[in-house]
Amino acid sequence: MSPDQQAAPVGIFDSGVGGLSVMREVRRLLPAEDLIYVADSQHVPYGNKSAEFILGRSRRLTEFLREKGCKAIVIACNTATVAAAATLRAECPGLPIIGMEPAVKPAVAASKRGIVGVLATVGTLQSAQFAALLDKFAASVRVVTQPAPGLVECVEAGALTSPATRQLVERFVQPLIDAGVDVIVLGCTHYPFLRPLIQEITGPEITLIDTGAAVARQLANRLQETSLPHEPSHRGWEKFHTTGPLAATRSALAVLWPGPAEVLPASCV
Ligand code: DGL
Repeated sequence: MSPDQQAAPVGIFDSGVGGLSVMREVRRLLPAEDLIYVADSQHVPYGNKSAEFILGRSRRLTEFLREKGCKAIVIACNTATVAAAATLRAECPGLPIIGMEPAVKPAVAASKRGIVGVLATVGTLQSAQFAALLDKFAASVRVVTQPAPGLVECVEAGALTSPATRQLVERFVQPLIDAGVDVIVLGCTHYPFLRPLIQEITGPEITLIDTGAAVARQLANRLQETSLPHEPSHRGWEKFHTTGPLAATRSALAVLWPGPAEVLPASCV
């Protein structure tokens, strides 16, 4: 692999700022990698949109990141992975594309009661891939699914602890508590930002699981396999783009990203 390709950035995208919960794990694990994030804020949320629409957006965002020279793409969005990962991989041979799915397998392993809750978008929960995931890993347990419309918007607004957000979280989490779950999968990349609030509502006896760290490990493995990791002494930088209004993404990043974050427009609206 040429030094130029190794020095190329990794591209990460999501419907909005939720994928930053994955990017922070990537940054922790891979400090030498340069990272370009694009938030499709003009079209957030994806959870209630058609698979065709999300595939179209995912193509545009991938094209944008490839134009920036990215050597690998992370789809930091469960909903877009379901709608687009297989097609993008077929359309971009040779480009490592890392997707994600709700952490059903580790949740089943962690559940002592055999009752697992999954919080995710309607798009994810209604997909054939999610049904296949349950068939494969969750045959031995009871799975209680809970769509959570509105939570993505709370995170987009940086409202992680407001009374309105708490009310919504209570509304979605209480049925899972009532069903007796002892593990809840956070099956949307926006939800890890609400983890403290969710945990406060569930109490400490319910375990919350998300996939950000696992996705970062998978990216690291793919970069190793393809001889693409950046030279280790390099100090990686981050760039942030949005298809939506800059001011809104800037205020969200001020809450969600622990460091300086310049936000630039993305030319793929
Ligand atoms: N953060 C995304 C996910 O992981 C999408 C949320 C949305 O835009 O509805 O599913």
